[in-house]
Amino acid sequence: VLEGDTADALNRVHALVTAGPTREPLDPVRFLSNHSSGRQGYAIADALVKLGAKVTLVSGPVSLTPPAGVNFVSVETARQMLKACEDALPADVFISVAAVADWRPARAATKKLKIKGAGSEHPSMELTENPDILKTIAHKRKNRPGLVIGFAAETHDVEEHAEAKLARKNCDWIVANDVSGDVMGGAENQIVLITRDGSERWPRMGKEDVARQLAKRIADTLGDEGTGLKL
Ligand code: CTP
Ligand code: CA
Repeated sequence: VLEGDTADALNRVHALVTAGPTREPLDPVRFLSNHSSGRQGYAIADALVKLGAKVTLVSGPVSLTPPAGVNFVSVETARQMLKACEDALPADVFISVAAVADWRPARAATKKLKIKGAGSEHPSMELTENPDILKTIAHKRKNRPGLVIGFAAETHDVEEHAEAKLARKNCDWIVANDVSGDVMGGAENQIVLITRDGSERWPRMGKEDVARQLAKRIADTLGDEGTGLKL
């Protein structure tokens, strides 16, 4: 474990981070989204910059100011987020913190939908599945980042669900957030880190501390230039 702040521990490392929600248009004035604040992802991007990494932060709409020193890419939809991530490759580590909308409206109207004239008393919305950004990046043959880290918010059977996600999405690590308590939307997180070697429960801590711990862990794993992965 690194002691103190080793400001150059991630020199020459390119880290790609997604954060925030995505926003999926229904018409020019309406969208489908979620409550993600972006706070955990922004804190991770900041912690990585402070360890000397070159950081690309691809973010959905949030009310936060991007951390100083990141290469910031602002997107709205899941499809834009995937494109921005692919454009940012190659990267040494990919950290998928964004709360990507799993579904989007199948068609986005070009004009505002009106309450009258939709042709039905009870209009319904057809949905279509969004691309899975983490899974897509983690399955790349060319340009797969050496270390791929997913997040998972779970209310029950945390380790079981997180391990299944790790395998399904071809990740190296899953940062599972146990949201069974009152951490949802709050300042603190209860993390279980799942790697291919097993799982470890971290003490409950602030999102900034989670970010610093994770950044140090990444620095430990990536090691010095040239030594490659020590997973
Ligand atoms: N993720 C992604 N693209 C998606 C959906 C999820 O990149 N379309 C990423 C998230 O950024 C996170 C991980 O996949 O790192 C897990 O997301 P989560 O929503 O917990 O998992 P899902 O596979 O979507 O399953 P569910 O929502 O049913 O739990
Ligand atoms: Ca999901």
